Amino acid sequence: MLSRGNWSGTVGFILASMGSAVGLGNVWRFPYITGQYGGAAFILLYIGCVLAVGIPIMLAEFLIGRKTQRNPVGAFRTLRPGSPWVVIGWLGVLSGFVILSYYAVVGGWVLHYVYLALTHSFAGKSPEQITALFVDMNTHSWLQIFWLGIFMLLSIVIVSRGVASGIEIGNRIMIPLLFVLLLGLLFYALQTDGAATGLEFLLRPQWHKLGPIAVLEALGQALFSLSLGMGTMLTYGSYLSRQTNLVRSACFVGIGDILVAILAGFVVFPLVFNFGLQPSTGPGLIFRTLPIAFAQLPAGYPVALAFFVLLSFAALTSAISLLEVVCAYFVDEQGWSRKKASWTLGIVIFVLGIPSALGEQFLDFMDGLATNYLLPIGALLIAVFTGWVLTREERKEEFGAGEISAFRFVCWSFLIRYVSPVAVILIFLHQLQLF
Ligand code: PHE
Repeated sequence: MLSRGNWSGTVGFILASMGSAVGLGNVWRFPYITGQYGGAAFILLYIGCVLAVGIPIMLAEFLIGRKTQRNPVGAFRTLRPGSPWVVIGWLGVLSGFVILSYYAVVGGWVLHYVYLALTHSFAGKSPEQITALFVDMNTHSWLQIFWLGIFMLLSIVIVSRGVASGIEIGNRIMIPLLFVLLLGLLFYALQTDGAATGLEFLLRPQWHKLGPIAVLEALGQALFSLSLGMGTMLTYGSYLSRQTNLVRSACFVGIGDILVAILAGFVVFPLVFNFGLQPSTGPGLIFRTLPIAFAQLPAGYPVALAFFVLLSFAALTSAISLLEVVCAYFVDEQGWSRKKASWTLGIVIFVLGIPSALGEQFLDFMDGLATNYLLPIGALLIAVFTGWVLTREERKEEFGAGEISAFRFVCWSFLIRYVSPVAVILIFLHQLQLF
């Protein structure tokens, strides 16, 4: 049986949730998606999705987790025994496999860049040579598979030892450091000649570039970046005691996550325009842009190293939360030991990741499957379950004294009952070209 640890307190819990949320989604995915969908307008849409759909669903996941103290499958089984709602839990476990399989490939890219930074590989290189480094890595499949393996190994070792104290301590140091480093890079980026074009791209909305697909992408990105729709936050909430204020925690994590993503955008786009790159470069965007700055900075070596080391930590703390969902299910419901679960499932996910390492198209396909389908469907079901299946009393009762004001409870209930489900359904209907 999983020894159900507890976070040391509210700060530890918020940092762990922040560690899950802040990751490649913010620094790798957000800038390139924003680049592909034309900048400022997409960012506004994204912020709207986080506030109206993301934070209410995060609160729902925290609530269900804390109420049941179980993994996603166990949680829905406990709340509505024998009902089909347990499917939300299954879907979450499936999403864990799908997402981690390609997430770990990109995590492997980051590790490779730590190696490149360590070996002074950026110094004095031209933008073309920096781009060539990325292309070179992509054409050497064995290299990607090697780093994928290392990345999975690190995740397995941490999860097999139990995460509570390790993740907490790691996040306490790494998340603030990543923030400071991004601020430093921002300072540099804003002094380059590309700053004006970059800022215009990020601040002047071009609404005509937004189609229905962009809306779906913004929602998918919000769910992905906040680790929602597959029971990650539910699992983290299950290690909570009742003292923690869930509403404040959800707002804190949601807004912190937006800030890191936007900060990453403000670092990347001035550099993109400064060095004449295309904003719509795709998944390789940060790997092709940031090292160009590192190559030219006087203190490029330590900055590059620190950046990629911190990014790999941010990726790892998210990967751990993905592996944790899958493992918690096998430990809780199938009676596996934590060690057996983390090693067996970690190796399965490594194998599932190989096709993504072999071709960027497959990686894109898995990413689309997760962010356009699995997470939105999971989020929709969680919203409907919380808003319509749980009774008002069940929802209300889980909040402790003073945790949520009557007004906020009404607002949240409205968002989770109407706004979140309707938003997701409309987006799906639009995508199926039904209207
Ligand atoms: N939120 C993580 C990131 O932004 C990715 C993630 C998605 C983690 C879903 C857990 C669950 O990098």
